[in-house]
Amino acid sequence: MSVLLTLNNVNKTFIKDGEEFHAVSDVNLSVNTGEFLTFLGPSGCGKTTTLRMVAGFEMPTTGSILMGDRDITYMPANERNIGFVFQNYALFPHMKIFDNVAYGLRVRGESKTDIARKVREGLALVGLEKAEERYPNQLSGGEQQRVALARVLVLRPSLLLMDEPLSNLDAKLRIHMRSEIRRIQQELSLTCLYVTHDQKEALTMSDRIMVMNRGRIEQVGTPMEIYADPASAFVADFIGQANLIPGTLVAEEGDIGVFESHGVRVKARLGRQTPPAVGKEALLIVRPENLSFAESDNALPIVVEHCLFEGDRLDYQARLAAEGAADKLEMSVPFLPGTQIHADGTNIKASFQPHGAVIIAK
Ligand SMILES: Nc1ncnc2c1ncn2[C@@H]1O[C@H](COP(=O)(O)OP(=O)(O)O)[C@@H](O)[C@H]1O
Ligand SMILES: [Mg+2]
Repeated sequence: MSVLLTLNNVNKTFIKDGEEFHAVSDVNLSVNTGEFLTFLGPSGCGKTTTLRMVAGFEMPTTGSILMGDRDITYMPANERNIGFVFQNYALFPHMKIFDNVAYGLRVRGESKTDIARKVREGLALVGLEKAEERYPNQLSGGEQQRVALARVLVLRPSLLLMDEPLSNLDAKLRIHMRSEIRRIQQELSLTCLYVTHDQKEALTMSDRIMVMNRGRIEQVGTPMEIYADPASAFVADFIGQANLIPGTLVAEEGDIGVFESHGVRVKARLGRQTPPAVGKEALLIVRPENLSFAESDNALPIVVEHCLFEGDRLDYQARLAAEGAADKLEMSVPFLPGTQIHADGTNIKASFQPHGAVIIAK
């Protein structure tokens, strides 16, 4: 695997309300050629700022950015051969689709025949070969976003940056466009940096995800690594749903740890990203869908507080039923005809497989 892009200790400070504000802090990242890497995090965590520094619209305060071996930290944006697709696709309304897509090629001074061929290839790639003669306002939002993508793709950028490109589309179309963008990226073996605050988008589209929080990297890994072995409570909570129970690691048995909280002992996998230490404070992370009412020794005593019928499943809200505990617990069990519903106030056990939960250092 060859590295296409490297961010070395990148920092960006803005002056906000007269004070220094660290929008991006100590970002180190290598992006492989052909990789689809997503920046994921809540609004304001520095995703766009990081992307804009890669694009050349913003200069890092300190640190450097390399493409291959070449330092591009201060290279003008238009010399980087990087494509950018924004949330607001901003097509030229008075130009036909053909001319919108041809625009960048004409600016480059390419020949008429090359332009015609490339525009047709670009539109075919995004499934809009019949739209050449139409105007943007004759297309749906999703189609316009495909045109915006085609317009960038015909320029054959060595790196494609996308900043929340699906945010303006309705829910159903957004889900469809996830797989469309992924298909195109794979067809062209394109290297992509993709920004979103939508964890499902990140999980379904990416080769790797960089989770950001307050300008810093929390974790970089494949979607499954991040889901199964979160490096922090923040990551566990931001990606999917998670019950976080504070306690202590009391023993280790291979890759399994014995965890104790309020006198209750359970076994779970030891986190590899942020390994806990025996005798020290730790967090048990267990996802609602990994808890069940099955008989087992590995269980947390709970009191049911509320049950929501979701059609395909039951979502329980409960609390840990141990002396002095105030921890809330969510539990999601499949609903099939005949599934028993436990009433509010029921004392019961929520069990899980040791490999279905993880213990990390607090
Ligand atoms: N030009 C700027 N001047 C001052 N503050 C900025 C500027 N651009 C971004 N910020 C601040 O930096 C933080 C990160 O912004 P941004 O990268 O846009 O976050 P995200 O894309 O993750 O929502 C925010 O608090 C934002 O207000
Ligand atoms: Mg943003």
